[in-house]
Amino acid sequence: MARVELDRVNKIYRGRGIEVHAVRDLSLAIEDGEFVAILGPSGCGKTSTLRMIVGLEDITGGEIRFDGRRVNELGPEARNVAMAFETYALYPTFTVFENLAFPLEVRGLERARIEREVREIARLLEIEDILGQKPGQLSGGQQQRVSLGRALVREPAVFILDEVMSHLDAHLKFRMLFELKRLHQRLGRTMVYVTHDQVEALALADRVAVMSNAELQQFADRDALYNRPANRFVADFIGEPPTNFFDARVVGEGGEVRLVVNGTGLAFRPDGQRRAVLARSGAREVTVGIRPQNLGIEPPDGACERIEAEVDIFEYLGETAILALRSGERAFRAVASPRHRYEPGTPLSLFYRPRDVMLFDPATGDFLA
Ligand SMILES: Nc1ncnc2c1ncn2[C@@H]1O[C@H](COP(=O)(O)OP(=O)(O)OP(=O)(O)O)[C@@H](O)[C@H]1O
Ligand SMILES: [Mg+2]
Repeated sequence: MARVELDRVNKIYRGRGIEVHAVRDLSLAIEDGEFVAILGPSGCGKTSTLRMIVGLEDITGGEIRFDGRRVNELGPEARNVAMAFETYALYPTFTVFENLAFPLEVRGLERARIEREVREIARLLEIEDILGQKPGQLSGGQQQRVSLGRALVREPAVFILDEVMSHLDAHLKFRMLFELKRLHQRLGRTMVYVTHDQVEALALADRVAVMSNAELQQFADRDALYNRPANRFVADFIGEPPTNFFDARVVGEGGEVRLVVNGTGLAFRPDGQRRAVLARSGAREVTVGIRPQNLGIEPPDGACERIEAEVDIFEYLGETAILALRSGERAFRAVASPRHRYEPGTPLSLFYRPRDVMLFDPATGDFLA
Protein backbone atom coordinates (compact mmCIF):
# COMPACT_ATOMS: atom_id res chain seq x y z
CA MET A 1 0.00 0.00 0.00
CA ALA A 2 1.26 3.47 -0.66
CA ARG A 3 0.52 7.12 -0.40
CA VAL A 4 2.37 8.92 -3.20
CA GLU A 5 3.46 12.51 -2.74
CA LEU A 6 5.04 14.80 -5.27
CA ASP A 7 6.55 17.87 -3.68
CA ARG A 8 7.46 20.69 -6.09
CA VAL A 9 8.76 18.20 -8.63
CA ASN A 10 10.57 19.50 -11.70
CA LYS A 11 11.83 17.82 -14.82
CA ILE A 12 14.19 19.55 -17.19
CA TYR A 13 15.54 17.67 -20.21
CA ARG A 14 18.91 19.00 -21.36
CA GLY A 15 20.70 18.08 -24.54
CA ARG A 16 22.43 19.63 -27.55
CA GLY A 17 22.15 23.09 -26.05
CA ILE A 18 18.36 22.83 -25.71
CA GLU A 19 16.45 22.81 -22.45
CA VAL A 20 12.89 21.55 -22.09
CA HIS A 21 11.16 22.29 -18.80
CA ALA A 22 8.70 19.37 -19.03
CA VAL A 23 7.31 19.47 -15.46
CA ARG A 24 7.28 22.60 -13.33
CA ASP A 25 6.81 22.70 -9.53
CA LEU A 26 4.29 19.89 -9.52
CA SER A 27 2.83 19.10 -6.09
CA LEU A 28 0.30 16.29 -5.69
CA ALA A 29 -0.67 14.11 -2.76
CA ILE A 30 -2.25 10.84 -3.91
CA GLU A 31 -3.89 8.99 -1.03
CA ASP A 32 -3.33 5.31 -0.34
CA GLY A 33 -5.79 3.35 -2.48
CA GLU A 34 -6.91 6.38 -4.43
CA PHE A 35 -7.54 6.30 -8.20
CA VAL A 36 -6.07 9.45 -9.70
CA ALA A 37 -6.00 10.46 -13.35
CA ILE A 38 -3.49 12.87 -14.84
CA LEU A 39 -5.20 14.62 -17.73
CA GLY A 40 -3.89 17.16 -20.20
CA PRO A 41 -3.09 17.87 -23.83
CA SER A 42 -0.19 16.27 -25.69
CA GLY A 43 3.21 17.42 -24.46
CA CYS A 44 2.03 18.86 -21.13
CA GLY A 45 4.32 16.57 -19.10
CA LYS A 46 2.13 13.58 -18.15
CA THR A 47 4.50 10.79 -19.21
CA SER A 48 7.49 12.62 -17.74
CA THR A 49 5.63 12.78 -14.41
CA LEU A 50 4.85 9.06 -14.48
CA ARG A 51 8.38 8.10 -15.41
CA MET A 52 9.65 10.04 -12.40
CA ILE A 53 7.15 8.29 -10.11
CA VAL A 54 8.18 4.89 -11.47
CA GLY A 55 11.91 5.68 -11.26
CA LEU A 56 12.72 5.58 -14.95
CA GLU A 57 13.65 9.23 -15.13
CA ASP A 58 15.85 11.43 -12.92
CA ILE A 59 14.07 14.08 -10.89
CA THR A 60 15.63 17.45 -11.67
CA GLY A 61 14.19 19.16 -8.60
CA GLY A 62 11.81 18.50 -5.73
CA GLU A 63 10.98 15.25 -3.98
CA ILE A 64 8.82 12.17 -4.50
CA ARG A 65 7.77 10.25 -1.37
CA PHE A 66 6.07 6.86 -0.97
CA ASP A 67 4.45 6.61 2.46
CA GLY A 68 6.49 9.57 3.62
CA ARG A 69 9.80 8.06 2.49
CA ARG A 70 11.91 9.82 -0.15
CA VAL A 71 12.35 7.63 -3.24
CA ASN A 72 14.25 10.01 -5.55
CA GLU A 73 17.38 7.86 -5.45
CA LEU A 74 15.63 4.47 -5.63
CA GLY A 75 15.51 2.45 -8.85
CA PRO A 76 12.25 1.08 -10.28
CA GLU A 77 12.62 -2.38 -8.63
CA ALA A 78 12.96 -0.86 -5.17
CA ARG A 79 9.78 1.22 -5.53
CA ASN A 80 7.34 -1.67 -6.07
CA VAL A 81 5.42 0.02 -8.87
CA ALA A 82 3.79 -1.76 -11.81
CA MET A 83 3.28 0.10 -15.01
CA ALA A 84 1.73 -0.28 -18.41
CA PHE A 85 2.53 2.12 -21.18
CA GLU A 86 0.90 2.96 -24.46
CA THR A 87 3.83 1.31 -26.22
CA TYR A 88 3.60 -2.29 -25.33
CA ALA A 89 7.09 -3.50 -24.31
CA LEU A 90 6.02 -7.14 -24.49
CA TYR A 91 8.54 -9.97 -24.81
CA PRO A 92 8.32 -10.76 -28.55
CA THR A 93 9.41 -14.39 -28.29
CA PHE A 94 6.95 -15.22 -25.47
CA THR A 95 3.33 -16.13 -26.05
CA VAL A 96 0.64 -13.95 -24.49
CA PHE A 97 0.28 -16.51 -21.71
CA GLU A 98 4.03 -16.46 -21.01
CA ASN A 99 4.08 -12.66 -21.07
CA LEU A 100 1.36 -12.58 -18.42
CA ALA A 101 2.86 -15.43 -16.39
CA PHE A 102 6.37 -13.99 -16.28
CA PRO A 103 5.91 -11.45 -13.45
CA LEU A 104 4.27 -14.21 -11.38
CA GLU A 105 7.10 -16.68 -12.06
CA VAL A 106 9.59 -14.06 -10.95
CA ARG A 107 7.70 -13.91 -7.67
CA GLY A 108 8.05 -17.68 -7.36
CA LEU A 109 4.34 -18.56 -7.35
CA GLU A 110 3.39 -22.17 -7.92
CA ARG A 111 2.22 -23.32 -11.33
CA ALA A 112 -1.46 -23.84 -10.53
CA ARG A 113 -1.78 -20.40 -9.00
CA ILE A 114 -0.03 -18.77 -11.98
CA GLU A 115 -2.36 -20.59 -14.33
CA ARG A 116 -5.41 -19.40 -12.35
CA GLU A 117 -4.33 -15.76 -12.13
CA VAL A 118 -3.38 -15.52 -15.81
CA ARG A 119 -6.77 -16.99 -16.85
CA GLU A 120 -8.57 -14.59 -14.51
CA ILE A 121 -6.86 -11.49 -15.91
CA ALA A 122 -7.25 -12.77 -19.48
CA ARG A 123 -10.98 -13.17 -18.92
CA LEU A 124 -11.21 -9.64 -17.52
CA LEU A 125 -9.38 -8.18 -20.52
CA GLU A 126 -11.10 -10.42 -23.08
CA ILE A 127 -7.90 -11.95 -24.40
CA GLU A 128 -8.51 -15.60 -23.48
CA ASP A 129 -8.62 -16.59 -27.15
CA ILE A 130 -5.14 -15.23 -27.94
CA LEU A 131 -3.17 -16.68 -25.00
CA GLY A 132 -1.20 -18.95 -27.36
CA GLN A 133 -0.17 -16.21 -29.78
CA LYS A 134 2.99 -14.09 -29.91
CA PRO A 135 2.84 -10.26 -29.67
CA GLY A 136 3.84 -9.83 -33.34
CA GLN A 137 0.61 -11.57 -34.39
CA LEU A 138 -1.64 -9.22 -32.42
CA SER A 139 -3.46 -6.00 -33.26
CA GLY A 140 -2.51 -2.78 -31.47
CA GLY A 141 -5.55 -3.02 -29.19
CA GLN A 142 -4.76 -6.64 -28.29
CA GLN A 143 -1.13 -5.80 -27.50
CA GLN A 144 -2.33 -2.96 -25.34
CA ARG A 145 -4.59 -5.25 -23.33
CA VAL A 146 -1.79 -7.78 -22.84
CA SER A 147 0.51 -5.02 -21.64
CA LEU A 148 -2.19 -3.80 -19.24
CA GLY A 149 -2.70 -7.39 -18.07
CA ARG A 150 0.99 -7.79 -17.34
CA ALA A 151 0.89 -4.77 -15.05
CA LEU A 152 -2.31 -5.97 -13.37
CA VAL A 153 -1.16 -9.53 -12.53
CA ARG A 154 1.57 -8.15 -10.31
CA GLU A 155 0.65 -7.00 -6.84
CA PRO A 156 2.51 -3.76 -6.53
CA ALA A 157 1.94 -0.91 -4.12
CA VAL A 158 1.16 1.46 -7.00
CA PHE A 159 -0.20 0.95 -10.51
CA ILE A 160 0.87 3.40 -13.18
CA LEU A 161 -1.05 3.30 -16.46
CA ASP A 162 -0.12 5.57 -19.37
CA GLU A 163 -2.62 5.92 -22.24
CA VAL A 164 -3.34 2.20 -22.04
CA MET A 165 -6.62 2.40 -23.95
CA SER A 166 -5.66 4.63 -26.85
CA HIS A 167 -5.88 1.78 -29.40
CA LEU A 168 -9.18 0.32 -28.28
CA ASP A 169 -12.43 0.88 -30.15
CA ALA A 170 -15.20 2.75 -28.34
CA HIS A 171 -17.14 -0.35 -27.21
CA LEU A 172 -14.13 -2.21 -25.94
CA LYS A 173 -12.84 0.89 -24.21
CA PHE A 174 -16.13 1.29 -22.39
CA ARG A 175 -15.98 -2.31 -21.14
CA MET A 176 -12.32 -1.98 -20.14
CA LEU A 177 -13.00 1.20 -18.20
CA PHE A 178 -15.69 -0.64 -16.30
CA GLU A 179 -13.41 -3.62 -15.59
CA LEU A 180 -10.55 -1.40 -14.51
CA LYS A 181 -12.79 0.48 -12.13
CA ARG A 182 -14.07 -2.79 -10.69
CA LEU A 183 -10.55 -4.12 -10.35
CA HIS A 184 -9.54 -1.01 -8.47
CA GLN A 185 -12.46 -1.42 -6.10
CA ARG A 186 -11.47 -5.04 -5.49
CA LEU A 187 -7.73 -4.47 -5.05
CA GLY A 188 -7.94 -1.11 -3.32
CA ARG A 189 -4.49 -0.21 -4.68
CA THR A 190 -3.23 3.25 -5.50
CA MET A 191 -3.65 3.83 -9.24
CA VAL A 192 -2.36 6.66 -11.40
CA TYR A 193 -3.89 6.71 -14.85
CA VAL A 194 -2.61 9.05 -17.54
CA THR A 195 -4.74 10.09 -20.47
CA HIS A 196 -5.55 13.03 -22.71
CA ASP A 197 -9.15 11.79 -22.89
CA GLN A 198 -11.38 13.50 -20.34
CA VAL A 199 -14.10 10.86 -20.68
CA GLU A 200 -11.68 8.19 -19.45
CA ALA A 201 -10.30 10.37 -16.70
CA LEU A 202 -13.69 11.42 -15.36
CA ALA A 203 -15.15 7.91 -15.62
CA LEU A 204 -12.34 6.27 -13.67
CA ALA A 205 -10.76 8.59 -11.21
CA ASP A 206 -11.67 9.75 -7.73
CA ARG A 207 -9.72 12.91 -8.48
CA VAL A 208 -8.23 14.30 -11.67
CA ALA A 209 -5.01 16.32 -11.93
CA VAL A 210 -5.38 18.60 -14.94
CA MET A 211 -2.05 19.70 -16.43
CA SER A 212 -1.18 22.19 -19.12
CA ASN A 213 2.20 23.49 -20.22
CA ALA A 214 4.20 21.52 -17.63
CA GLU A 215 2.09 22.86 -14.76
CA LEU A 216 -0.74 21.58 -12.62
CA GLN A 217 -3.92 23.59 -13.23
CA GLN A 218 -6.28 21.88 -10.79
CA PHE A 219 -6.43 18.68 -8.73
CA ALA A 220 -10.05 17.99 -7.88
CA ASP A 221 -13.06 15.71 -8.29
CA ARG A 222 -15.53 15.77 -11.17
CA ASP A 223 -17.97 18.17 -9.55
CA ALA A 224 -15.34 20.81 -8.81
CA LEU A 225 -13.80 20.52 -12.27
CA TYR A 226 -17.21 21.12 -13.87
CA ASN A 227 -18.65 23.69 -11.53
CA ARG A 228 -15.66 25.42 -9.99
CA PRO A 229 -12.89 25.15 -12.60
CA ALA A 230 -9.71 26.81 -11.33
CA ASN A 231 -9.31 28.82 -14.51
CA ARG A 232 -10.36 29.28 -18.08
CA PHE A 233 -8.08 26.49 -19.30
CA VAL A 234 -9.83 23.90 -17.11
CA ALA A 235 -13.31 25.21 -18.01
CA ASP A 236 -12.39 24.91 -21.67
CA PHE A 237 -10.65 21.53 -21.45
CA ILE A 238 -13.23 19.74 -19.28
CA GLY A 239 -16.65 19.22 -20.84
CA GLU A 240 -17.75 18.47 -24.36
CA PRO A 241 -18.57 20.60 -26.27
CA PRO A 242 -16.27 23.10 -24.52
CA THR A 243 -17.52 26.01 -22.43
CA ASN A 244 -18.63 29.16 -24.30
CA PHE A 245 -16.62 32.23 -23.28
CA PHE A 246 -17.64 35.87 -23.79
CA ASP A 247 -15.75 39.03 -22.93
CA ALA A 248 -18.32 41.23 -21.24
CA ARG A 249 -18.80 44.67 -19.67
CA VAL A 250 -20.35 44.90 -16.22
CA VAL A 251 -23.36 47.22 -16.55
CA GLY A 252 -25.68 48.37 -13.76
CA GLU A 253 -25.59 47.81 -10.01
CA GLY A 254 -27.10 45.67 -7.29
CA GLY A 255 -29.82 43.35 -8.50
CA GLU A 256 -29.75 44.96 -11.96
CA VAL A 257 -26.26 43.88 -12.99
CA ARG A 258 -25.99 42.69 -16.57
CA LEU A 259 -22.91 41.35 -18.35
CA VAL A 260 -23.11 42.87 -21.80
CA VAL A 261 -21.22 41.26 -24.68
CA ASN A 262 -20.09 43.95 -27.13
CA GLY A 263 -21.02 43.57 -30.79
CA THR A 264 -23.90 41.22 -29.97
CA GLY A 265 -27.40 41.34 -28.53
CA LEU A 266 -26.22 39.20 -25.61
CA ALA A 267 -26.42 40.14 -21.94
CA PHE A 268 -26.14 37.65 -19.08
CA ARG A 269 -27.56 38.07 -15.58
CA PRO A 270 -25.51 36.37 -12.89
CA ASP A 271 -27.00 35.22 -9.56
CA GLY A 272 -26.69 37.04 -6.23
CA GLN A 273 -23.50 35.28 -5.15
CA ARG A 274 -21.72 36.25 -8.37
CA ARG A 275 -23.08 39.80 -8.27
CA ALA A 276 -21.62 40.12 -4.79
CA VAL A 277 -18.21 38.92 -6.01
CA LEU A 278 -18.32 41.47 -8.86
CA ALA A 279 -19.36 44.27 -6.51
CA ARG A 280 -16.51 43.44 -4.11
CA SER A 281 -13.90 43.36 -6.86
CA GLY A 282 -15.21 46.50 -8.57
CA ALA A 283 -14.40 44.88 -11.93
CA ARG A 284 -15.86 46.63 -15.00
CA GLU A 285 -14.90 43.82 -17.36
CA VAL A 286 -15.23 40.11 -16.92
CA THR A 287 -15.07 36.92 -18.96
CA VAL A 288 -18.36 35.03 -18.85
CA GLY A 289 -18.31 31.25 -19.24
CA ILE A 290 -21.41 29.17 -19.81
CA ARG A 291 -21.51 25.47 -20.65
CA PRO A 292 -23.45 24.45 -23.79
CA GLN A 293 -25.36 21.95 -21.59
CA ASN A 294 -26.58 24.88 -19.48
CA LEU A 295 -28.13 26.75 -22.42
CA GLY A 296 -31.49 25.16 -23.16
CA ILE A 297 -34.32 25.61 -25.60
CA GLU A 298 -36.81 24.75 -22.85
CA PRO A 299 -36.85 26.85 -19.66
CA PRO A 300 -35.34 24.84 -16.79
CA ASP A 301 -37.09 24.39 -13.43
CA GLY A 302 -36.64 27.31 -11.05
CA ALA A 303 -35.35 30.81 -11.74
CA CYS A 304 -34.08 31.32 -15.26
CA GLU A 305 -33.08 34.04 -17.69
CA ARG A 306 -32.87 34.08 -21.45
CA ILE A 307 -30.79 35.29 -24.38
CA GLU A 308 -31.75 35.57 -28.04
CA ALA A 309 -29.73 34.09 -30.89
CA GLU A 310 -29.95 32.71 -34.39
CA VAL A 311 -29.28 29.14 -35.53
CA ASP A 312 -26.17 28.64 -37.65
CA ILE A 313 -25.90 24.86 -37.87
CA PHE A 314 -27.85 22.02 -36.32
CA GLU A 315 -25.68 18.95 -35.83
CA TYR A 316 -27.00 15.50 -34.83
CA LEU A 317 -24.90 13.49 -32.39
CA GLY A 318 -27.17 10.51 -31.87
CA GLU A 319 -28.67 11.00 -28.40
CA THR A 320 -28.20 14.77 -28.44
CA ALA A 321 -27.67 17.53 -30.95
CA ILE A 322 -25.33 20.49 -30.97
CA LEU A 323 -26.74 23.85 -31.93
CA ALA A 324 -24.18 26.25 -33.37
CA LEU A 325 -25.66 29.69 -32.68
CA ARG A 326 -24.85 33.27 -33.49
CA SER A 327 -25.55 36.67 -32.06
CA GLY A 328 -24.00 39.47 -34.09
CA GLU A 329 -20.44 38.37 -34.77
CA ARG A 330 -20.26 35.93 -31.86
CA ALA A 331 -20.64 32.21 -32.41
CA PHE A 332 -21.39 29.88 -29.50
CA ARG A 333 -22.99 26.51 -28.82
CA ALA A 334 -25.84 24.87 -26.98
CA VAL A 335 -26.82 21.23 -26.48
CA ALA A 336 -30.33 20.38 -27.65
CA SER A 337 -32.60 17.41 -28.00
CA PRO A 338 -32.37 15.88 -31.50
CA ARG A 339 -36.16 15.64 -31.74
CA HIS A 340 -36.69 19.04 -33.34
CA ARG A 341 -34.76 20.20 -36.33
CA TYR A 342 -33.75 23.84 -36.66
CA GLU A 343 -33.08 25.46 -40.01
CA PRO A 344 -30.16 27.89 -40.31
CA GLY A 345 -31.31 31.45 -39.65
CA THR A 346 -34.11 30.47 -37.23
CA PRO A 347 -34.34 32.95 -34.32
CA LEU A 348 -34.27 31.16 -30.96
CA SER A 349 -34.54 31.96 -27.23
CA LEU A 350 -32.03 30.13 -25.02
CA PHE A 351 -32.67 29.72 -21.30
CA TYR A 352 -30.11 29.45 -18.52
CA ARG A 353 -30.02 29.50 -14.73
CA PRO A 354 -28.20 32.56 -13.35
CA ARG A 355 -26.13 30.29 -11.09
CA ASP A 356 -24.70 28.51 -14.16
CA VAL A 357 -23.00 31.71 -15.32
CA MET A 358 -19.28 31.35 -14.51
CA LEU A 359 -17.04 34.39 -14.15
CA PHE A 360 -13.33 34.58 -14.98
CA ASP A 361 -10.71 37.31 -14.64
CA PRO A 362 -10.19 38.53 -18.23
CA ALA A 363 -6.47 39.23 -17.64
CA THR A 364 -5.34 36.07 -15.80
CA GLY A 365 -8.12 33.63 -16.72
CA ASP A 366 -8.58 32.76 -13.02
CA PHE A 367 -11.99 31.60 -11.84
CA LEU A 368 -13.77 34.34 -9.87
CA ALA A 369 -17.13 32.75 -9.08
N1 LIG B 1 13.69 12.37 -23.38
C1 LIG B 1 13.31 13.62 -23.68
N2 LIG B 1 14.22 14.54 -24.07
C2 LIG B 1 13.86 15.81 -24.34
N3 LIG B 1 12.59 16.28 -24.26
C3 LIG B 1 11.65 15.41 -23.88
C4 LIG B 1 11.95 14.03 -23.58
N4 LIG B 1 10.79 13.42 -23.22
C5 LIG B 1 9.83 14.36 -23.30
N5 LIG B 1 10.32 15.55 -23.70
C6 LIG B 1 9.57 16.82 -23.86
O1 LIG B 1 8.96 17.12 -22.63
C7 LIG B 1 7.65 17.63 -22.82
C8 LIG B 1 6.65 16.76 -22.08
O2 LIG B 1 6.64 15.47 -22.66
P1 LIG B 1 5.75 14.28 -22.11
O3 LIG B 1 6.09 13.06 -22.88
O4 LIG B 1 5.89 14.21 -20.63
O5 LIG B 1 4.27 14.80 -22.48
P2 LIG B 1 2.86 14.04 -22.42
O6 LIG B 1 1.96 14.92 -21.65
O7 LIG B 1 3.04 12.64 -21.97
O8 LIG B 1 2.40 14.06 -23.95
P3 LIG B 1 1.56 12.98 -24.82
O9 LIG B 1 0.12 13.16 -24.46
O10 LIG B 1 1.84 13.39 -26.23
O11 LIG B 1 2.09 11.61 -24.48
C9 LIG B 1 7.45 17.69 -24.32
O12 LIG B 1 7.74 19.00 -24.75
C10 LIG B 1 8.44 16.69 -24.85
O13 LIG B 1 8.85 17.04 -26.14
MG1 LIG C 1 2.67 10.75 -22.84
